[in-house]
Amino acid sequence: MKPEQLIQHAIDATKNCHVPYSKFKVGAAILMKDGTIVTGANIENSSYGLSICAERTALYHAHLNGFRKDDIVSMAVIGPTSDTISPCGACRQVMHELMHANTPIILSNLKKQIKNTTPESLLPYAFSSKDLK
Ligand code: THU
Repeated sequence: MKPEQLIQHAIDATKNCHVPYSKFKVGAAILMKDGTIVTGANIENSSYGLSICAERTALYHAHLNGFRKDDIVSMAVIGPTSDTISPCGACRQVMHELMHANTPIILSNLKKQIKNTTPESLLPYAFSSKDLK
């Protein structure tokens, strides 16, 4: 699948945003090896700290549907930003948990500009389960 197609899925996913507070719609789409696309959108709460980003809803949505890091081909994230969206630190840590360190993450925006990243490039020296052993 071309990057622009996965980006379009991320744009389409913003129909499920719940953003009455920020009005800032972020969408994410994850392409699986079997061709499945799993999406995510940010979901806010009147108790602001309970809000969750699009990247994390997408990755948890994928996990809950039985997909694991070996199944993931790539992920696209978009926001209404002038430059490509930049995931928050919490999402970068979750990307490390649920994706391989070198799996492509395409950061984009509504203009479909592209920045090619990976969990490793977004969060070098991440905390990981190997540190727990
Ligand atoms: N947000 C995301 O969903 N992903 C990002 O990469 C940046 C921020 C959300 C959190 C909140 O709902 C809104 O965007 C404004 O911060």
